[in-house]
Amino acid sequence: MNGVFESEEFRRLIKNTDLAKEPPEEDGSARQAYFLKKAKEIVSDRERELGRKLKACVVTFGCQMNERDSEKLRGILSLAGYEITDSEDADLVLYNTCTVRENANVRVYGRLGGLSQYRKKNPGMIIGLCGCMMQEKDEIEKIRKEFKYVKLVFGTHNLHRFAELLVRALMAEPKEQVIEVAEKDDSIVENLPAERTYPFKSGVNIMFGCNNFCTYCIVPYVRGREKSRKPEDIVREITELAKDGVREVMLLGQNVNSYGKGLSSPCTFAELLQMVEKIDGIDRIRFMTSHPKDLSDDLVEVMKNSKKVCRHLHLPLQSGSSRLLKLMNRHYDKEQYLSLALKLRKEIPDLSLTTDIIVGFPGETEEDFQETLDVVRKVRYDSAFTFIYSKRFGTAAARMEDQVPDEIVHDRFDRLLKVVQEIGREETARFEGQTLPVLVEKINREDKSLVTGRTPQNTVVHFPGCGDLIGKIVDVRLDKCQGFYYLGTMTGGKEC
Ligand code: SAH
Ligand code: SF4
Ligand code: F3S
Repeated sequence: MNGVFESEEFRRLIKNTDLAKEPPEEDGSARQAYFLKKAKEIVSDRERELGRKLKACVVTFGCQMNERDSEKLRGILSLAGYEITDSEDADLVLYNTCTVRENANVRVYGRLGGLSQYRKKNPGMIIGLCGCMMQEKDEIEKIRKEFKYVKLVFGTHNLHRFAELLVRALMAEPKEQVIEVAEKDDSIVENLPAERTYPFKSGVNIMFGCNNFCTYCIVPYVRGREKSRKPEDIVREITELAKDGVREVMLLGQNVNSYGKGLSSPCTFAELLQMVEKIDGIDRIRFMTSHPKDLSDDLVEVMKNSKKVCRHLHLPLQSGSSRLLKLMNRHYDKEQYLSLALKLRKEIPDLSLTTDIIVGFPGETEEDFQETLDVVRKVRYDSAFTFIYSKRFGTAAARMEDQVPDEIVHDRFDRLLKVVQEIGREETARFEGQTLPVLVEKINREDKSLVTGRTPQNTVVHFPGCGDLIGKIVDVRLDKCQGFYYLGTMTGGKEC
């Protein structure tokens, strides 16, 4: 872990906090600064009693939004005095959950069971659950009834109140459960701390929630309506991150292409990218995810002309069948998607195009599935995430008839995976022999004489080098493609 990143504003708030007074009433960063100071007091008392440091572990399920949220949770825990660890043999274990597909939920309960060995050893252990799954009423009921040992539960709209919830959990009676799940949250709380996983790269939320209501998807129900952060807040955060050593930022939103619509002075995503590009110290800009219906010509133009925006675009297809796309409420058809993807291929030839595809949406026929294969063959994705449709309670698709039988879905899934992987390998190999800038991320786990990094296309490269290169961008020749990654050699500069 990299140590906590605190904004100047949060540091000032902590400094001005007086625990002898009542906490600030308004729900915002000043109130959280107060409770953070309080949590620190309690944690240090416990440490004195126990004669050792307290440890905390945050486990993330789900997408990059959750990864970033976990960094914020770790930021609070770390400032409260906990030592952050990857081991669940800890004094506080928090699962940041996902509920996008049913198996995500199943995994969480399975893993909770596995904590019993540590609970027995450490009766004071606090187990907490947060994130998307906690926005579902049935899950909360289940936790109240069957998982009484879970001490702390909060939803996606309560995350910014974590310092306060932590204090409540630390002070709770032995059998008490602290549960706080708001149905919605219209505010955005700025300036909370975060502990980054990597010192040199960081996710940055540019918006929260989603308004699209794709009929299969639960995200709008558990993350709420779309709201954008102000461009000046985003630029300030990234400027501070750059000063703290960050070279690559990933701008995060469920649909970044609709960024800025609800702001009092609207700003497009393309304009935001241009602002971020001007920030000194930031060398690489990525973003996730783009909805095809909102991807503008301006954005293609900005990407094409930018030296900092990475050559990678994740453009979820979901299905190649216009009929299914309509039922999915995606607002584009096969032809529109194809013309956009092929335009991107033409305008930015070194772009890596990746996607998400769902197999087995209600009513999917073999013809619909063939349309999906057709798009995959025409666009030739560098890589694709393929998912089996999962029925999510409360979504429109869950009420549709004609759910596809399991064996047909699995057969289609296997056929799709084969095509996707074959094309993915061929497309990844097209960079063989080229020299590309690689941001070095870590020492290779298996072979310690190698380091591992990523090209602008997000392709992984292993090459001889040592730990001093971590966080640096170096030129690497991509000697040999090994399926979905490369073995390479640094050109210029010293390996160590
Ligand atoms: N906002 C992003 C994706 C969020 S969820 C976007 O629009 O692209 C990530 C992916 O999970 C989706 O792209 C979709 O392919 C998949 N997904 C979402 N709901 C699903 C469901 N009910 N069953 C199977 N896959 C699903
Ligand atoms: Fe889900 Fe669609 Fe929103 Fe993505 S755009 S989060 S798939 S509803
Ligand atoms: Fe999962 Fe929530 Fe992300 S449901 S995919 S963690 S937004």
